[in-house]
Amino acid sequence: MSQAETSSYWDSFYSSRKKGAPAYPSQFAAFAVNELTDIDGVIEFGCGNGRDSEFFATCGFDLLGLDASVEAIELCRSRSAHEHTRYVQCLAGAAKDEIKGFLVNKRKVAVYARFFLHAIDENEANAFLDLLSVLLPPESQVFFEYRTIDDADQDKTFGTDHYRRYVNHQDMLANIERAGFRVTYQIEGRGLAKFRDEDAKVGRCVASKN
Ligand SMILES: C[S@@+](CC[C@H](N)C(=O)[O-])C[C@H]1O[C@@H](n2cnc3c(N)ncnc32)[C@H](O)[C@@H]1O
Repeated sequence: MSQAETSSYWDSFYSSRKKGAPAYPSQFAAFAVNELTDIDGVIEFGCGNGRDSEFFATCGFDLLGLDASVEAIELCRSRSAHEHTRYVQCLAGAAKDEIKGFLVNKRKVAVYARFFLHAIDENEANAFLDLLSVLLPPESQVFFEYRTIDDADQDKTFGTDHYRRYVNHQDMLANIERAGFRVTYQIEGRGLAKFRDEDAKVGRCVASKN
């Protein structure tokens, strides 16, 4: 699936499911907010309808939300209740200037990406990790959650007609470390991202920039 097809899929998802996509925070966001230590802001990649971004903003963090989908970003802006949020439509690989702008006067930040790394291909994921490695200040934190290989056979609440790359958790951890991060917590399992009838097998990783 090309990048244009991916964006077009997500545009139609967010325009037709405005009432269906959960607007409340995910289990992963509730986990992550307890782990945020002494940071000056949160950048979310693949923020979708802003469910987790708005939660971080509600908790008082400066927030930059990025997504490739025009519809998703419009939804975020229309729902946003906070002045210290900024939502920008762009591909992760083209986010360099937005990240740099957000980092001005910030010592360290957290990058958060839920169900994003499996929504992009391997080359883009590696380029994304490299971009973070170059731009993030030392001791910045990253939080990733993604579907893993055993999840491929699981029935999906939102169907199977969009791109999902089922990730080898150990390979992902190695890639994160190779990009210049120190993994401080990781787990793979079910029960972490349950949604109605679907209990996805996911990997979680928290890491610090060296
Ligand atoms: C599975 S959704 C996850 C949304 C949200 N994080 C959540 O957990 O509900 C994946 C999101 O990644 C976005 N996305 C896909 N490829 C992208 C890319 N290359 N750059 C930025 N966003 C992208 C999609 O538009 C979509 O909103």
